[in-house]
Amino acid sequence: MTPTHDTPEHPEYGNWVSKRIIATFAIITLLLAAASWFWTLLLIPALVTFIIASYFAYGRYVLSANGGDLQTKVRTLLLNQIPWDGNGRILDIGCGSGALSIALAQKYPHATVIGIDSWGARWEYSQQLCEMNARLAGVQDRVSFQKASASAIPFPDGSFDLAVSNLVFHEVHDTKDKRLLLKETLRTVKTDGTFAFQDLFLLKRVYGDTDNLLEAIRSWGIQQVEFIPTRDSPVIPRTMKPWFILGTIGIIKGKK
Ligand SMILES: C[S@@+](CC[C@H](N)C(=O)[O-])C[C@H]1O[C@@H](n2cnc3c(N)ncnc32)[C@H](O)[C@@H]1O
Repeated sequence: MTPTHDTPEHPEYGNWVSKRIIATFAIITLLLAAASWFWTLLLIPALVTFIIASYFAYGRYVLSANGGDLQTKVRTLLLNQIPWDGNGRILDIGCGSGALSIALAQKYPHATVIGIDSWGARWEYSQQLCEMNARLAGVQDRVSFQKASASAIPFPDGSFDLAVSNLVFHEVHDTKDKRLLLKETLRTVKTDGTFAFQDLFLLKRVYGDTDNLLEAIRSWGIQQVEFIPTRDSPVIPRTMKPWFILGTIGIIKGKK
């Protein structure tokens, strides 16, 4: 989504499944189908890419407001797990279209929120879109956005009372060891401050064993940490539970 279109009446939070990924698989399907005139066996990979394109199109629909608004439901799983009194400064890492930052500002009327994101070309999001959404939601006085990477957060140690992040760390490609991203985020939280992150924490290839991960976090001097496997939530349909979509999500939350 480009921020240059006419201003809509309501916030537009985009979609975690971009049109670009669906279009890429659809184009590959068409190319393979055309080439199968010359080599019939190419119909097999054409069928595979067609299934992938169709699955992503289905996923985009289910996540969207028209298809059940699963994106909002997944963010709400995180919002409902934040043990916080609502006073102070919030950092939202990888804020995307600003949806979580804005929901936090609405939930905590005495808090200020800063959303950061790298806003790469892969996503339908931008800083302008976030700012427009905050204005449309009427929280622009307490929410701001800035371009920054989760791997080098441009705030001093202990700057925030609450740090949150939703489905971001596994997407950060410049840091292979995702534990370093958790450590970098926790650095910015005040002593006694609160944190709550939702990500594909049950994906062992990315995070390793969950108990070891929690143990590592405790070893950084974090006073309280626990894990909630949100993948088991009934709001997530079975069709959206493959490991690479929402089948490995969970929340790590606690107090620094
Ligand atoms: C699945 S989206 C989630 C967006 C948002 N948290 C939400 O709940 O809608 C992943 C987000 O991670 C962001 N991201 C990827 N790499 C990043 C990085 N190095 N630093 C900050 N954000 C990053 C992307 O730009 C994208 O907005």
